[in-house]
Amino acid sequence: MLVEQLNNAIGAELVGVRLADAIHDDGLFAEIRANLLKHRVLFLRDQEISRAEHVAFARRFGELEDHPVAGSDPEHPGLVRIYKSPDQPNDRYENAWHSDATWREAPQLGAVLRCVECPPVGGDTMWANMVLAYENLPTHVKEQIADLRARHSIEASFGAVMPIEKRHALKAQFPDAEHPVVRTHPETGEKVLFVNAFTTHITNYHTPARVRFGQDANPGAGDLLRYLISQAYIPEYQVRWRWKPNSIAIWDNRSTQHYAVMDYAPCHRKMERAGIVGDRPY
Ligand code: SIN
Repeated sequence: MLVEQLNNAIGAELVGVRLADAIHDDGLFAEIRANLLKHRVLFLRDQEISRAEHVAFARRFGELEDHPVAGSDPEHPGLVRIYKSPDQPNDRYENAWHSDATWREAPQLGAVLRCVECPPVGGDTMWANMVLAYENLPTHVKEQIADLRARHSIEASFGAVMPIEKRHALKAQFPDAEHPVVRTHPETGEKVLFVNAFTTHITNYHTPARVRFGQDANPGAGDLLRYLISQAYIPEYQVRWRWKPNSIAIWDNRSTQHYAVMDYAPCHRKMERAGIVGDRPY
């Protein structure tokens, strides 16, 4: 297996590997898993795998989960369809920097995404290394955010376009989750900056040490959150991947964010994502 880094920050392409072989080959799977922890997102070309093999490979990392809003393949639970067509011009969501499902108490460990059909140009996906984003923060910011926690909401993101009853039902099913602003990666021990497009507000900002008068609270917490969320936008932390049919990306959702670029209208783009159940951030 050849491992070709795409830059110095994040991402490597695996060459000479058939993902389907890793379903049964423990040694090969261990090698892929080690590379995922190191490079955070792995890319492979020309993987002619069936949906069943896609699911079986992703299941090696853990249980899979469906998405309450995006539909799944009826014959392969856990395989979420991200299908975009010219007749769904307002169907978005992926074109914001995010980690998948941080509105859950236990956001995903990672995902395996396969390109089924892509536009002739455009429709790339970008990933950002949120360990690097944390490491490069100024020391005073690291000190300021060490004990902060923040709320993540499906209601304010996927729910925002729904009629009020449906939105409230979604929130009742998935109440907002609260996570540390800086999480610790459960396998590597690295610190990760863990706020994204699903994050609505910092929950424990309003202390006497931070807020002299009420007027300090709102701009203070809001400005800080916006600054932290904007770290994923820095190109030096990113990699950008150009899709072809049967290209695959595998990412560690705990240490990265991603952004699907919506620059391909009026074309079709069909992706299938197996999302792996994760653990509660600490
Ligand atoms: C996602 O946001 O998980 C999907 C990314 C993509 O469709 O490129």
